[in-house]
Amino acid sequence: MINDKLPVIWYGGDYNPEQFDLLTLQDDIVMLKKAHINIATIGVFSWALLQVDEDKFTFSWLDTIIDTLYENGIYTCLATPTAVPPAWMVKRYPDLLRTDPMGIRKKFGGRANACPTSENYRRFTYQIAGQLAKRYAQHPGVLMFHISNEYADACYCDQCEIAFRQWLKDKYQTIEAVNHAWNTTFWGHTFQTFDEIVIPDARSEQWSDRATNFQSMSLDFKRFSSESLFACYQNEVKAIREFSNFPVTTNLMGAYKPLDYAVFAKGMDVISWDNYPSHHATPSEIAFSHDLMRGLKAGKPFMLMEQTPSQQNWQPYNALKRPGVMRLWSYQAIAHGADTVMFFQLRRSVGACEKFHGAVIDHVGHENTRVFQEVAILGEELARLGSQLLDTRLTCRVGILFDWENWWAVEFSSGPSQDLWYRQEIQKYYDAFHQQGIAVDIVFPYQDFSEYAILVAPVLYMLKPGLAARLKEFVRAGSTFMTTFMSGLVDEHDRIVPGGYPGELRDLLGIWVEEFDALPPGVTNRMVCHDDQRTWQERYACSLLCDVIHTTGADVLFTYERDFYKNYPVVTRNRYGDGNAWYVGSSPEPAFLSDLAANLCREKGIVSALSVPEGIEITQRTDGKITYLFVLNHADSAVQIDLGSAVYQDILKMQTVTGKVMLASKDVWVLRS
Ligand code: GLA
Ligand code: ZN
Repeated sequence: MINDKLPVIWYGGDYNPEQFDLLTLQDDIVMLKKAHINIATIGVFSWALLQVDEDKFTFSWLDTIIDTLYENGIYTCLATPTAVPPAWMVKRYPDLLRTDPMGIRKKFGGRANACPTSENYRRFTYQIAGQLAKRYAQHPGVLMFHISNEYADACYCDQCEIAFRQWLKDKYQTIEAVNHAWNTTFWGHTFQTFDEIVIPDARSEQWSDRATNFQSMSLDFKRFSSESLFACYQNEVKAIREFSNFPVTTNLMGAYKPLDYAVFAKGMDVISWDNYPSHHATPSEIAFSHDLMRGLKAGKPFMLMEQTPSQQNWQPYNALKRPGVMRLWSYQAIAHGADTVMFFQLRRSVGACEKFHGAVIDHVGHENTRVFQEVAILGEELARLGSQLLDTRLTCRVGILFDWENWWAVEFSSGPSQDLWYRQEIQKYYDAFHQQGIAVDIVFPYQDFSEYAILVAPVLYMLKPGLAARLKEFVRAGSTFMTTFMSGLVDEHDRIVPGGYPGELRDLLGIWVEEFDALPPGVTNRMVCHDDQRTWQERYACSLLCDVIHTTGADVLFTYERDFYKNYPVVTRNRYGDGNAWYVGSSPEPAFLSDLAANLCREKGIVSALSVPEGIEITQRTDGKITYLFVLNHADSAVQIDLGSAVYQDILKMQTVTGKVMLASKDVWVLRS
């Protein structure tokens, strides 16, 4: 439980009553109570109001808000305001501001705009976080701390450059070790001293966020940047810990590439994240993001910290969530392990760039809106659930390996194809399992994966030290490992592992890869089946990259149909110890991936909790005794579901269901058996 003072699903969101007056707060509270709101995130971006000078704080307005909410049964998730330093502070200490990749120091403006290395930023954030903790640690209405807001991007200033050099010294000790790791003899970029090293930015080695001259150098800079922002987070946690043991979190952004959230997870008591899918996001894409966030803390329930009740303002086309979709997506979060449903925002601003962002309370100011009514109905429903679902977990037998550093490395590389996107390849495999109702955990290389029956690692380009040995142990013990093209190529410094691809995985997979061909857009090859042990079509299309593979022990399940590598293997399977290691040497069409997922699951006896038609998503959460089956209809029409002879209790509608039942479009069941 996040905080046992509020042992129900937390329902609420970001609230900035300081943008309005006290009468509005009173009116809002009447409405928020009607919507069964029980938590408000207070104080995000309020630094300028809280601190008016070096040692001058103005907490009375915040006291009023927190007290008033608490008197009305609404708890506070207290944010530190540090995502935007006040204008006066920046004017006095210009080193607080960031420098962009072109080397241009920013002026005051925007948000997430502070240099993480700035000693003044660290000093002031420590001070304000400590002041807040000191003042509110004993407040009965405060349940947790929300540190800053959506840490993002990086800074390229001179003080960051100095800090980066120090970081490198700590990591490598000698300049020779740096030169070796970065392979700087290439293009004669050898460094004699640490002082010669510059940040890889648009003025030096980096052409874009995607490509760079020295992948290893850019990787180190990404690592440094993630750690710098994490250090800012930890600095605030440290200040808070002087006064309080409240749980701490910061709101993450799902598959956000610039920061390695595996680093952040280590300092977070609970993962929280902001879910803003675009209007064309598939249910499986949203599901992946939830699973990715849940995976950061190995399955522990997480917080849905923000979602819009209706629309965003910052997408090119800010479609309204259709009636029922807000409720459906809220339950989808819960179905994937969330213990909170929270919005940005409780009341719409009247000015500035988020005035058109959806909110529980709209500009009209009363409750007779579609959005408010939907929020209120969901609130009532969640309140009825009480504590039933809290702390229950998903139990998955399939894991998909994900790694931020691998993501950066593969996309920093120049070649073999600019259409290779790590996130997309991962998603294709995720979709294949999701479609069949098979729950998946997203697993990180530092975690223990020995309990999974199947571990899928698409584009595992970088093998960190010790990972190959652990994967071998995993397969030897009887599990199934599956990987693809562009795997095992480099070590943690992005240096090729010589002796044939896929490096340290060669004997596990029983193959070696000689070359890889990049197919331009629209060009495909086909994979021809030779496997009569499993259920496949005769042929499948494949594209993007085609590995030229030689087997050294693996069975050949598919071969290429065309080109000079016609009849060469493309899909192989190697018996290793008591388990199997699969290799897919190209990017196949979805039909292949779903047949592959089905075959792998069949071999391991993994079945979905319920067989359902397309468009229906299912997951299960359990406390070990009671299991809750979530059935979500993402389709635009009602769908008949066959529950068989089992008798379930739908804990939302509080009725018994069995046999063939219609589930309305966008409707949800939470079924207890
Ligand atoms: C982010 C931020 C919020 C708000 C929303 C708008 O998630 O954390 O402050 O800007 O986006 O969608
Ligand atoms: Zn900086």
